[in-house]
Parts: sequence; C-alpha cells; structure tokens
Amino acid sequence: MQRLAPALREDNVPLDLISLIKTILAATKEISFRVSQAHLGGLMGSTLDENIQGEVQKKLDVVANELFKDILLESGFVKAISSEEEDTSVGGDKDGKFIVSFDPLDGSSNIDINSLIGTIFSIHEAPKDAEPSDPDMFKQSGNRQVCAGYVLYGPSTMLVMTTGSGTHFYVLDRTHGGYLLVERNVQVPQDTQEFAINMSNQRFWQEPMQNYISDLLAGDTGPRGKNFNMRWIAAMVGDIHRVLTRGGLFTYPSDNRNPEKPYKLRLMYEANPMSFLIEQAGGLAMTSEGRIMDIEPSDIHQRVEVIMGSKNEVEACLGYYK
Ligand code: AHG
Ligand code: MN
Ligand code: MN
Repeated sequence: MQRLAPALREDNVPLDLISLIKTILAATKEISFRVSQAHLGGLMGSTLDENIQGEVQKKLDVVANELFKDILLESGFVKAISSEEEDTSVGGDKDGKFIVSFDPLDGSSNIDINSLIGTIFSIHEAPKDAEPSDPDMFKQSGNRQVCAGYVLYGPSTMLVMTTGSGTHFYVLDRTHGGYLLVERNVQVPQDTQEFAINMSNQRFWQEPMQNYISDLLAGDTGPRGKNFNMRWIAAMVGDIHRVLTRGGLFTYPSDNRNPEKPYKLRLMYEANPMSFLIEQAGGLAMTSEGRIMDIEPSDIHQRVEVIMGSKNEVEACLGYYK
C-alpha cells in the first residue's frame, strides 16, 4: 500500500500543497486520538457557549477547532483560516499561499453516543495582495478549491481526499502513524436504491421534495417501480462516506421550519468540500437550482440546500423541481 506523499506526487500535486496537507493530517491524527479518549479525558458533553451559527458547542467541537486552527496558523503555509466554530476568519502568515475552511467536528450530536464523527476541510489559493485579516478572500466558489477532504473517526480513521485528480481513500495506519492509500479513483455508482434524509422534517419540505420522497417510499408498487432503503447517520461525513462507498442520494433540502433559516448545511465547511469529492467520483452535487460549486459565496457562514450522490438518482430528484 502506498504512503500519502508518493501518492500525491503521482497526481502532480505541488510540493507546497503536499506540505499543507501533511500539516492538516497531523492535526487530524491528534483529534483522532483525543476523540478516542474523550470519555477518559472529561471531554464528553457540551460547553456553556454557542457558536456563530447559534448552535451549542460540544467540548470536543472546541478542542478540535483549537487544535486545527493552531496547527494551521503556526505552519506558515496559510494566509488565513475560516471555521464553522469561529465568528469570522482568522489571519495567519502574510506570505501563506493558501486559505483553509473547515468543520473541525462534523456530526457533533454523535459525540456523546460514541458514533460516527469527522473533520471536513477545503483549501483555496490565497489572493496574493489580500491582507490576512480580510474575510472576503474566502468568498471563492467551490470550483476554485485546490483540495478538499474529510477524516472519518470511525472503527478505522479514514481520510478521503481529492486534489482534482479523482477521489481517493486512505486509512490511518497506527503502526507507523501515517495514512496509506487503500483505494484510488473511487466511483459513486450511477444508480442506487438508497437515500438519506432526515424524515422528521417531512412536513416542512417544499412540494417537489415531498413528492419525490413519497414516490421512493411507494417502492415497487409506485411510479419508480423499485424499493428504496433509507439511512441517516446525522453526520454528513458518515452519510457521504456511505454514498462514496456504495452509492446513494444524500439530501438536506430547504424547509420552512424557520423562515430565516431555510437551509441547514454550510456551503464553505460542508457542501463545497463534499461536492468536490462527489463530483471527482463521478456523482452529482446540486441544489434544486444548480451546481453547488458554481455558487459565488456572499457570506463565509452561508448555508445552502444540498442534493448529492449517485448521478441518475440526483437527476431523478431534480426532475420533480422542473
Ligand atoms: P455539525 O455537527 O458540524 O453541526 O453538522 C451536523 C450536520 C451534518 O453533519 C448532518 O448531516 C446534519 O447536520 C444533521 O442534521 P439533523 O440533526 O437535522 O439530522
Ligand atoms: Mn458539520
Ligand atoms: Mn461541526
């Protein structure tokens, strides 16, 4: 099995980007260890604080965020970072060539039940003339990502990453402490009989999504003529990992629970990096109006509708919006 750096060199990834990726992975190895020890180290449960998103922060959200942020800002490779857990972007090295957006712990509600969680990251080039303190440099579309990935802290710690030459799976080998390539050029099957959605929000969805899901639930006696299975891990990293592994449709559609917040998932920290991984694996990553990675961001914390996964199933779903 190939080690990470040679695998990246084979894909012609520039050396400075490889160095940044290694820095990110050093942080994930430490987070992986802390996650495994969370109960023993008194890191279960919530803090008394809310993040900028208005969500109560778990103790591990804060620990993972500080770790990731500090390691990146000390590296000299990044001009600034932006995190789901920070109010605004945080400046780093003036000569840093990259900016990194991240969700330090995705699936926080799974922490206390010892279930799947992960870290998601997205890398863009930093505009040369921008000041490190300028949050506007993060307003770049997903199309301009040079690397995206996530690390899943599951039964094994797995890295799933793309630099634009396919989506590859790596596993953390604890005997030598590095990530090893286990599957190159993962492909999302184009057809699927599995979907992922939080069904408890059904009454709040728009009509097209109501109709689509009800046709899936009708199974082989309905208009789709086949039965569908449903899964919901409540951690996008877990659900997208399943989709990348065996296909499926994952959606967090727009809903009218709170008119000021029609979407749940965040463009920079969740939707864009996952879209890059899914598209590089031959899947589709859309809103009901167009490609996610085409969106020109207006706010670093903006949220977006997400419909992604197996190509033919995403197209079938979008057909209901026409
Ligand atoms: P986070 O833990 O970073 O706030 O993200 C949770 C997200 C996403 O990972 C998951 O798909 C979704 O929220 C789950 O939402 P519900 O709790 O509404 O099911
Ligand atoms: Mn998240
Ligand atoms: Mn999070």
